[in-house]
Amino acid sequence: MLWIASLWLLWASSILGAPVNKQRQKVLLISFDGFRWDYDRDVDTPNLDKMAKDGVKALYVTPPYLTITSPTHFTLLTGRYIENHGVIHNMWFNTTTTEKMPYYQTLFVNEWWDNGTLPIWITAQRQGLKAGSLHFPGTASSYQGQVAMVREWEPPLYNYKNETVWQENTDKVMGWFRDQDLDFISFYFGEPDGTGHRHGPDSPERREMVKQVDRTVGYIRQSAEQHGLSGHLNIIITADHGMSTVYRNGLVEEITLSKIPGFSFRDLSFHLVDYGPSGMLLPKPGMLEKVYNALKGAHPHLHVFKKEEMPERLHFAKNDRILPIILFADPGYVINGVLQFNKGEHGFDNEDMDMKPFFRAVGPAFHKNLEVGPFETVNIYPLMCHILGIQPEVNDGHLNATKHMLVTNSALVAVGFTVCKNQILFLGKYQHQHIVNVFSPYFLFCFR
Ligand SMILES: *[C@@H]1O[C@H](CO)[C@@H](O)[C@H](O)[C@H]1NC(C)=O
Ligand SMILES: *[C@@H]1O[C@H](CO)[C@@H](O)[C@H](O)[C@H]1NC(C)=O
Ligand SMILES: *[C@@H]1O[C@H](CO)[C@@H](O)[C@H](O)[C@H]1NC(C)=O
Ligand SMILES: *[C@@H]1O[C@H](CO)[C@@H](O)[C@H](O)[C@H]1NC(C)=O
Repeated sequence: MLWIASLWLLWASSILGAPVNKQRQKVLLISFDGFRWDYDRDVDTPNLDKMAKDGVKALYVTPPYLTITSPTHFTLLTGRYIENHGVIHNMWFNTTTTEKMPYYQTLFVNEWWDNGTLPIWITAQRQGLKAGSLHFPGTASSYQGQVAMVREWEPPLYNYKNETVWQENTDKVMGWFRDQDLDFISFYFGEPDGTGHRHGPDSPERREMVKQVDRTVGYIRQSAEQHGLSGHLNIIITADHGMSTVYRNGLVEEITLSKIPGFSFRDLSFHLVDYGPSGMLLPKPGMLEKVYNALKGAHPHLHVFKKEEMPERLHFAKNDRILPIILFADPGYVINGVLQFNKGEHGFDNEDMDMKPFFRAVGPAFHKNLEVGPFETVNIYPLMCHILGIQPEVNDGHLNATKHMLVTNSALVAVGFTVCKNQILFLGKYQHQHIVNVFSPYFLFCFR
């Protein structure tokens, strides 16, 4: 009787194309902050290459604008463009009091993160799954009163570069999957962003750091294996944004707002221009046109937009938190760079190739040895929801953009696995085949 029911379930799930909640597949989402799409081109990366061979590699992915850490990470967790999820900057600010908080402190400002959009942890948990997060931006916040059930954030003054700690964290995350049976974990590494900023994306230091990332990718896959997870764990590795070299010292005509004729900080009631190549301004009442006219066209590599005229493709306007004037520089330039010493920056237009992150995925849900074209990172969220078999929240991505990476009936295999635990061997044979196989002698043998 049981096997008839199981067969029916198999048939139904294949007809409806819906994942069935039996032996679920797990998902590990990893971000290596600032890993540009082409960082594997001038460094030997045997482990990343092996991962591409065993799974899927995208040429690159396109992050949302504004290409900075917290906003783009929250897009990975929600599938929403930044104007829609509300985490519009790394820095919390209040235009009335003119307070600003740096990146790390902002990780703990609950109302900054919990602005109406649910990250995947909460959605998964509401649908009966278990979720965790280690160091991923947004982890410390609660969302509509709920938090990821297992979570850890980095202490202040954390050393983001220590490879031993990376390995300890990896084993910790794999332990969460195995011992607490989590279904989804997001896992963040602060490099190669730090090294890219400090030494520039073309430096030997950055290449060394990419080698460290590569060794860690090998360690992650080995640890998954040792924890007995490789059969049902899917690992997605990507990043929030890329990195671009900043030119200074007379190599370029720098963008210094105070030197622009007709512009004065006294006409502003608040501004956020201390962040590399991008900025936002709130002019005093009646001063908007004056400020705008002074800045627009003042420097050939400075883009100036009123909020309502921001190009639609950037999806960075329709949110009350975004200030009335938005500035960004062309690659190579920063705004008001006199007190910034970074040799690499991000925050540029997401069309710029230097802003594109990498993407790799491996696991039972994914094809092997498949290279795909680019897609936007908003599409990673619906992909993860699909693999987990959960209903996504409203989002700006679509499974269309990524479904060619997936083996067609991974849900079927999962059900078959549960129904037929003691006949594991033949499962591999059926992985890529259609439901018709249910009626083959092998399958019937299994259900005897
Ligand atoms: C900003 O600060 C003012 C004054 O303390 C307060 O009334 C307002 O609610 C704050 N706004 C935000 C968005 O925190
Ligand atoms: C989002 O934050 C803004 C203030 O920055 C607030 O006015 C708005 O009510 C918040 N929306 C939600 C749904 O939390
Ligand atoms: C890296 O972390 C390990 C383990 O916590 C510690 O023993 C070691 O001293 C650290 N190395 C550096 C350079 O901080
Ligand atoms: C997804 O693909 C289907 C079939 O090709 C198409 O009908 C549909 O419009 C696509 N949806 C989006 C949002 O691209």
